[in-house]
Amino acid sequence: MEPALASRSVDRRAVVSLFSRLRKASGQANPLPIYSELREMGDVVPAPWGGYLINSFVWCDRILRDRAWRVPDSAWRARQGGGTRWGARSSTEMGRTLPALNAPNHTRVRRSLGNMFDRKCLGGITQTIEVHAERLLDRFADELRNGEADFSTLVSEQLPMCSIGEWLQLPQSDYELLRSLAHDQVFTQELLPSASQLALSDAATVELESYFRELVQERRRAPGDDPVSRWLHTWDALEPDREAADEAVYLLALLVFLAAPETTATLLSSMVWLLLEHPRQFGWLRAHEDHVPDAIEEVLRYDSPNHIISRVAPEDTTIGGVRIEKDRMVHLMVGVANHDPAHFADPEVFDIRRKANHLSFSGGVHYCLGAPLARLEASTLLTALLRRMPRLRVSAPPVYAPRVGFRRIVELRVVGA
Ligand code: HEM
Repeated sequence: MEPALASRSVDRRAVVSLFSRLRKASGQANPLPIYSELREMGDVVPAPWGGYLINSFVWCDRILRDRAWRVPDSAWRARQGGGTRWGARSSTEMGRTLPALNAPNHTRVRRSLGNMFDRKCLGGITQTIEVHAERLLDRFADELRNGEADFSTLVSEQLPMCSIGEWLQLPQSDYELLRSLAHDQVFTQELLPSASQLALSDAATVELESYFRELVQERRRAPGDDPVSRWLHTWDALEPDREAADEAVYLLALLVFLAAPETTATLLSSMVWLLLEHPRQFGWLRAHEDHVPDAIEEVLRYDSPNHIISRVAPEDTTIGGVRIEKDRMVHLMVGVANHDPAHFADPEVFDIRRKANHLSFSGGVHYCLGAPLARLEASTLLTALLRRMPRLRVSAPPVYAPRVGFRRIVELRVVGA
C-alpha cells in the first residue's frame, strides 16, 4: 500500500499539549486516544523540539528496513553539541554500543554476537526459565494467600533478571543492584529526559561501566563456558590489540544486559494486565494453549514495551509529503504505528487470535537480537499461569512510570489465585 500524504499543517501547540498529556498518569494508563489524535495530524508530523514524528505503520516499517537511514551514532551525537542531552555521559556511552552503530561498524559488531538465542541456546535455557517461573509463582501464590499481591515486583521484574543474569553467569547477589541501575540508565534513551533524569542515567552508567569492565577482566583471568568468555575468544581473533578486544566485549556485555531486563519485564506485566482485562480471552487460552505465541504477539502489538525508535535522515528527503533535512532525527512512533487502522483491522481491539505483525522488535538490520529470549520467557510464564492461576484478577489498575518511549509498569496488584 502507498503511504498516505500528510494532510494539513500542524499546530505546534497542539503537539506540545498532546505530549504533556501523554506524560501524565492518565496518558500512560491509556495512550491510545492520544495516539489517535496524533495520527489525525498526519503520517509525518514536525516535532516542536526539532525532528519529526512518524505515525504510520508503512512509513515506520519502510524507514526501519531502508539501510540508508541511520541510527544516531557517536558522530551524530557529537554534532549536536556537548551542552545538549546528547553530550551527557550516559548518551556518549550508549552511542558506542551496537544499536547506535552504523555500517560498517554495526555489521562487524553484530556479526561477532552471532545468533545469540538460536534453537540450541534456547533449548539449553528453557528448563532454567521454567524452574525460575515456577519458583517465582510459588512465592507469588504465598503472598496472594494474604490477599493482594504485586505481580510486577514479585514476578515480572524478577524473571528477566534471573534469565539474563544466569545466561551471562552473573552472581545472584548482584541482581537487585543491576536491575535498579538498568531502570535508571534507560532515561537517557527516553524521548525528552529532564536534567535530573539524565543525572540519574549518568550515575547509573558510571556504575554499570565499572561493573561490566570488571566482569570482562574476570573472564579474561578465568575463562569459562559463558557468552562473555566466548565473545573474548571471538574478538581476540578479530582485533590484534587486546585492550581494543576487551573494550569491544565490555560494550557487548553492557548492551546485552541493558537491553534485556526492563523491556521483558514490561512485556510480562502488560501480558498479564491485558489478559486479565479480557477474562474471556484468558479463559479461551486455557483451552487453546497452542495459541499462547499468538497471544504474546498481540500483547507486543497492543502495548509494545518500547513505543519510540529513532533514526536520522541520510540526506534531504520527502516522506509523506513532508520535507526532512539531512541529519534530522525522526521518531518512529511504533506504539502509534502498531494501531494504524490502515494496517490493522480494528486496531483498538485486543484480539489474541489475530496474527499480529508489529514493529515492537524493530525491523531491518537492527532487529532485536533478544526477541527469542523475550518470547520464551513470556510463553513459559503464561503457560504456567494458565495452568496454576486461572482465577487471577486485577484488583487495581496498573501504575505506570511517567515515561513516553520506554513503558514501565511499576505496580500490578492482583487477587485470587
Ligand atoms: C520484550 C522485550 C524486548 C523488546 C520489546 C525489545 C526491543 C528492541 C528494539 C525495538 C530494538 C531495536 C532498536 C532500534 O532499531 O534502534 C532492540 C534491539 C536490540 N535488542 Fe531488544 N528488546 C527486547 C528484549 C531483548 C532482550 C531480552 C535482549 C537480550 C538478551 C535484547 C537484545 C537486543 C540487542 C542486542 C539489540 C541491538 C540490535 C542491533 O542494534 O543490531 N532485547 N530491541
